Amino acid sequence: MVKPFLFVTGTPGVGKSYCSARLGKAFKGIRIIEINDVAERYRTYSGKDEYGSRIVRLRELRMRVMQEIDRAGGITVVVGHLAPELGIRTHFAIVKRESLKKLAARLKKRGYAKGKIRENLIAEAFDYCGEKITKFADFTCEVDTSRQFDLVAKSIMEHHAGKKAHGVESSAAIRRFCNGESKYKLEELAEMARSGNEFGF
Ligand SMILES: Nc1ncnc2c1ncn2[C@@H]1O[C@H](COP(=O)(O)OP(=O)(O)O)[C@@H](O)[C@H]1O
Ligand SMILES: [Mg+2]
Repeated sequence: MVKPFLFVTGTPGVGKSYCSARLGKAFKGIRIIEINDVAERYRTYSGKDEYGSRIVRLRELRMRVMQEIDRAGGITVVVGHLAPELGIRTHFAIVKRESLKKLAARLKKRGYAKGKIRENLIAEAFDYCGEKITKFADFTCEVDTSRQFDLVAKSIMEHHAGKKAHGVESSAAIRRFCNGESKYKLEELAEMARSGNEFGF
C-alpha cells in the first residue's frame, strides 16, 4: 500500500472538513478522502450506539480506506476523527483543535445528544485524537485555528514539493504553532464546570 501523505484528524466538529476542503482548493493535485464518506459508501457499520450513532466495523473500513488511498494517486489527504483508529501509517498529521465552547455549540447545532456532546468535549479536552495519531504519523502538528491550519498545511505542501531544502520541522509556521502547547484543555473544562453547563461537568 502507498503511504498516505497527510492525515487531518480531530474531534468531530472541530473543522477538519472545512479546512481540508480549502486545502484541496488551494493546491492542485490533492485528493481528499473523507473517512466518513468511505464508511457511508461501503456501509461498514454494525449497529448503533446508545445515542443512535452508527458504530463502524473498523477492520473493514481500514481495508476500504487503504483501497481508496491506493486508487487515489497524487497527493492523498485522509480526513476524519477515525483516522487514528485505522492503524494506517502516514507521513504527516495535522490535528485540528477547537475551543470547547465553540465545539459544544457546533455539536448542538448538529443535533447531537447532550451525552454525546459531553463525550466529545472530554475527547477534545484530553486530546484523544492527537495523542493517538502520533503513533502512526512521522510528523504530527496540532493547530487551534483555520488560519494556523492553512499556514501549517502550506508549509507541509511546500516541503513535499521540494521547494524548501530543510526539514519541515524548521519551517516558521510549524515552529510557531506546533510546539506542543495547550494540548490539554483542562483549564477550559474547569471553567465550564465553574460557570455552569448542561453537559454534566
Ligand atoms: N474556521 C471556521 N470558520 C467558520 N465556520 C467553521 C470553521 N471551521 C468549521 N466551521 C463550521 O463548523 C462546522 C463543523 O465543521 P466541519 O469542518 O464539518 O467539522 P469536522 O469535519 O471536524 O467534523 C461546519 O458547519 C463548518 O462550516
Ligand atoms: Mg467532517
